[in-house]
Amino acid sequence: MEAILIGFMGSGKTTVGRLLAEQLQTAHADLDELIVQRAGQPITAIFARQGEGQFRQLEQRTLLAALQRPGILSTGGGTPTTAANAAILTTSSIPVIWLDATDATILARVAADDGRPLVNELDTTALLTLKQRRAALYAAAADLVIATDRLTPTQISQRIVDWLAQSAQRVIQA
Ligand code: S3P
Repeated sequence: MEAILIGFMGSGKTTVGRLLAEQLQTAHADLDELIVQRAGQPITAIFARQGEGQFRQLEQRTLLAALQRPGILSTGGGTPTTAANAAILTTSSIPVIWLDATDATILARVAADDGRPLVNELDTTALLTLKQRRAALYAAAADLVIATDRLTPTQISQRIVDWLAQSAQRVIQA
């Protein structure tokens, strides 16, 4: 992988990941989609039938496999929340980018989607508490943070491209 996108549900990881991959002319993988392919069932069914714990184990195995592939990886909102996944993200040399967004933006984006078990399960207060709790985990895993609210997906993608180019230059100079 060339870059990994992290962030809360509805932060734009999949949309920006696709654009970024297009811009960099590389492949894009979405961790949730890879999990669905592996499990042969939707995320909501994995949560309902096997529980979140099993989902996280599947997520970890899928993450490890995905890191071997080229391109951009959009993770799930909960990926960095298990100790094992956090360790994988922080120890890998692949740049990790946190797409941050305000509570209002997240709520507006996730409201219309019933494919997310945690959104279906939690009320607004609990969802925002979860978001707040996760912020420290995203911060710990991230090499770059982008406050996305006032930016279009294309602008976000361009910022990442610029940052990746600068990081590459620093490596060459070092
Ligand atoms: C989750 C986020 C989802 C998906 C699953 C759990 C989470 O991914 O992995 O529903 O714990 O935040 P998105 O962030 O792509 O919605």
